[in-house]
Amino acid sequence: MKKQMLVLLLAAVICISGCGQQSDGAEPVVNREGTEAQMDSETGQREEEDGFPKILEDDSDGKSKELNSSDGEGPESDGESDAAQTVGLAELYQENFPIGIALSGYVIQNMDQYGEVVLGNFNSITCENEMKPDALLDMEVSRENLENTYLHAAVHFDNCMPAIVFAEEHGIKIRFHTLVWHSQTPKSFFTEDYTEEGNLVNRETMLARMENYIADVLGYFQENYPGLIYAVDVVNEAFDPGNGDEDGIRTNENLWYETVGPDYYYQAFVFARKYASEGMKLFYNDYGCMDKADLMLERLAQAKEEGLIDGIGMQSHLSTDDRIQFKFMLAVKQFCDAGYEVQATELDIGVKEVSDSAFMSQARKYRAFFKNMKVLQEEGYSVTGITVWGLNDDLSWRRDEHCLLFDGNMNPKKAYLGALLDPAIPDVE
Ligand code: GLA
Repeated sequence: MKKQMLVLLLAAVICISGCGQQSDGAEPVVNREGTEAQMDSETGQREEEDGFPKILEDDSDGKSKELNSSDGEGPESDGESDAAQTVGLAELYQENFPIGIALSGYVIQNMDQYGEVVLGNFNSITCENEMKPDALLDMEVSRENLENTYLHAAVHFDNCMPAIVFAEEHGIKIRFHTLVWHSQTPKSFFTEDYTEEGNLVNRETMLARMENYIADVLGYFQENYPGLIYAVDVVNEAFDPGNGDEDGIRTNENLWYETVGPDYYYQAFVFARKYASEGMKLFYNDYGCMDKADLMLERLAQAKEEGLIDGIGMQSHLSTDDRIQFKFMLAVKQFCDAGYEVQATELDIGVKEVSDSAFMSQARKYRAFFKNMKVLQEEGYSVTGITVWGLNDDLSWRRDEHCLLFDGNMNPKKAYLGALLDPAIPDVE
């Protein structure tokens, strides 16, 4: 009941504040929606052959839908929209998949301010930074005890403890992000003496360190908080077609590649499977998946055949220019058809300008995103989660692009209504 009141309150705030987003009034508004509808309808023919309109509304008549919606009727009356007014996101999608939110340490420490919105809308959390290698590795302790730690670096869980406590307290599950990544991993983890200046270790040493790290981290959660972690980003961003090696493996500033070699991502899955408990689904996570799906499937094939990997995490850092219905969802289908489950792990959709039109376009994209993921799941595709990457625009890593569901003052934006499939947001991209 409390949750329903909160959502009603949020909806009321949107109505009163006009979404908290005002046009800056500087430029005449570019009609992105019109342009996109045209673009999509151009390729609609091709997609039709792929069977997409079977599950997704063609947006070639987007303009008329937009007109219809402005007379207050909304584009659809499928019953779910009415329900959306009174429930939060997690409840709305409870039959489909968990709805997650990435939370920083700051947000976790200020739950008196953010708790109601978080608990009213999300049933999964990802630590924005606190479970990354630079947060878990204890390089100082490792350095001081080199004799014992040379192959087995020390870890600690102080940084992520508030998130664990919060999740436990409220019965929320955690997406673990992330074990093996070229970024946010201290250089000292890769050197002979665990200093930034030391020489890089050889492949065997680094493989041992990788195995011990993965064993320690997964083992810790299994032992102390069984069932808390339901998905693990084992490897983040290993593929960089165009910039990487001849196989598209990331080389740039990638000490995993330098020490272990091009199969480092495969080795990570070997160890993760060895130490993960049954309930932990193992994911490969990356950005730009729409454009590198073929490469990803090829490079991950061995791990897949050997049963080492369960899912693809599509980061989903998008903008209002991205074509959700006819591009993003094709990649989702492609991964599912190849036997993976798919989660959107870091969803945010940036605007190109601050205007009412841009925020409406953003709301439509959110609506298209959530609706299409839901429809795919209902059609039997293994879509198993959506996580939004941050709580509000001002806390976002893409602050200038106002890409989240709430504005800096925690006013719900039209984007929030889009995600809720509210009829106020037209059903076109
Ligand atoms: C990538 C990472 C995330 C986060 C964002 C930027 O997408 O996977 O953990 O660091 O970059 O905030």
